[in-house]
Amino acid sequence: MSAFESSETQALDVSGLSTDAIAELRSDHAGETGAVYIYLGLLAISKDPILRQFANAHLATEQRHLMTLNGLLPKHAQSKCLALWRLAGWSLGAIAALGGRPFAYTTIQAVETFVVEHYQQQLHLFPTPLRTLLESFCADEAHHRDEARLAAHPGSKYRLWHWLVASGSAAAVGLARRL
Ligand SMILES: [Fe+2]
Ligand SMILES: [Fe+2]
Repeated sequence: MSAFESSETQALDVSGLSTDAIAELRSDHAGETGAVYIYLGLLAISKDPILRQFANAHLATEQRHLMTLNGLLPKHAQSKCLALWRLAGWSLGAIAALGGRPFAYTTIQAVETFVVEHYQQQLHLFPTPLRTLLESFCADEAHHRDEARLAAHPGSKYRLWHWLVASGSAAAVGLARRL
């Protein structure tokens, strides 16, 4: 669980942030939207009880991240492509589920590895306590990544897929920073 409750996040103010920091927050909000929908897509397709338990636990965290960012980032600063991020996330989750357990874990490992790096490269743009909040998100994503990595083992046969998912995530973040 994050150390931040909703009453504390209400005290966080984004009005003094740089344009770059707001762009990063926009991509974070878009990314957390996509993350929620990845797990929804996975849960819509998979009947595997172990995979479903994994996805439900991660989904709860992503929903908390998204709710917090929804409260922080004004509507006008949010991505204009949220419907696209929902569709892309849901589709990726559904494809991951169709491939079975090791393939699904590899997909999640690729996404969460990317998300950790994405949070890490932006932290210097934020003053505390906002930085502390994003660090706690990053720690949650690292936990997701590590769980998926352990579960995926041996998942190395999906190296090309891992690369594709990471590249797709990077392209989506690049777009969400601007739009
Ligand atoms: Fe998240
Ligand atoms: Fe995550």
